[in-house]
Amino acid sequence: MVRFVETSVRDGHQSLFATRMTTKEVVDLCAILDDAGYHAIEVWGGATFDAAMRFLNEDPWERLREVRKVCKKTKLQMLFRGQNILGYRHYSDDVVDMFCKKSIENGIDIIRVFDALNDIRNLRQAVESTKKYGGECQIALSYTTSPVHTIEYYTKLAKEVESLGADSLCIKDMAGVLLPEDATKLVTAIKKEISIPLELHSHCTAGVCEMTYMAAIKAGVDIVDTSLSPLSNGTAQPSTQALAVALKGSEYDPKLDMDVLHKAEPLMTQVVNKYVGNGLLNPKSLQVNPNILTYQVPGGMLSNMIKQLTDQGAMDKYEEVLREIPHVRKDLGYPPLVTPMSQMVGTQAVLNVLSGERYKMCAKEVKDYLHGRYGKAPAAVNEDVKKKIIGDDEVITCRPADLLEPEFEKLKEKYADIARSDEDVLSLALFENVARDFLKKKYAHEDVEEDSFEMFV
Ligand code: CO
Repeated sequence: MVRFVETSVRDGHQSLFATRMTTKEVVDLCAILDDAGYHAIEVWGGATFDAAMRFLNEDPWERLREVRKVCKKTKLQMLFRGQNILGYRHYSDDVVDMFCKKSIENGIDIIRVFDALNDIRNLRQAVESTKKYGGECQIALSYTTSPVHTIEYYTKLAKEVESLGADSLCIKDMAGVLLPEDATKLVTAIKKEISIPLELHSHCTAGVCEMTYMAAIKAGVDIVDTSLSPLSNGTAQPSTQALAVALKGSEYDPKLDMDVLHKAEPLMTQVVNKYVGNGLLNPKSLQVNPNILTYQVPGGMLSNMIKQLTDQGAMDKYEEVLREIPHVRKDLGYPPLVTPMSQMVGTQAVLNVLSGERYKMCAKEVKDYLHGRYGKAPAAVNEDVKKKIIGDDEVITCRPADLLEPEFEKLKEKYADIARSDEDVLSLALFENVARDFLKKKYAHEDVEEDSFEMFV
């Protein structure tokens, strides 16, 4: 039997319409899906946290608590970017610890932790803290292809993940570039080496995902990530219903309650129609895009680059920028193209093309990366490029967070004027301006309600 993790209310809407599902939409769906028989429902983390406050004026912590109330049987899962948590810089260990603690307290069961560079040192604290507070910890390895990202590379890392104490391992193919034959080899090799469950996460962008899932399932993968139709395919995950039906009656049957899924469909259709209607769901996201197999560029990175080029009035350079990406990636030691590396590589490719000279201009983040502040590059970086950008500067070789002093108490003090809970402090630590605006409105509103209530006492 293969278990399914439902991703529609996290990755599904993040991939298809910029993470705009509201808490009510998420909660109403989860209330039904709780009875379907999933291994877990992915409900939190990734971009959901930022988007809730920034675009929906909603508290992400409240969403989690509301979902927990209606999900009595199914485990709730979140996505967590190692020492970055959900933000873009490295946080000190005590902040990572507090975030794990609060996530679990507010309702998370499984924390899926990954690091863009697969630098295991950046995962250690999250694993330790998740276990400490009684959560289940899954480590996800960012999947990409390059001369260094071989089956041996992933198998070796898988063994390290198991010995680090993770409860399960996930192959996270964020760009949807894993092909069926490679999935067979990869899953077979990893399953031989580890005894913890193995999960596969991929995207339909290139049009090969269902075939890849099938190959992985036959090779022994234990869990796959799927998204309820109509919030599936395109740049999201394969359809939960379709894959469940395809496996029905076989030894891999996920044994989901199809009546429950059927019951959830009208609600999901209503949600999707809303975002088609308001233009947030671009029909392009639903089309098969095999070009991704050539350039290995995840959907989010493409739309970011298109925006940068449009802003500069340089969309005619689009193809040239796409061709520049593999060069930049090689120069930087083949980082997997996932946040924050995807943005760095994409922006650098744009700068290289627009300035007419490679690395004449350089983003601060790329400089930090070359200084070792994000961790260890998967392969050696191009020394000439490094010299051109950071000269003879000293490069960090330790775990970047080892250089950070504990900061939670300081953050608490810094935000004392606005934060009313540790959860608020964490929101502010991750997305300072967005959280500040949001909390101001939230508490102004609550205070007004309290005041008006008192008038009638
Ligand atoms: Co994904």
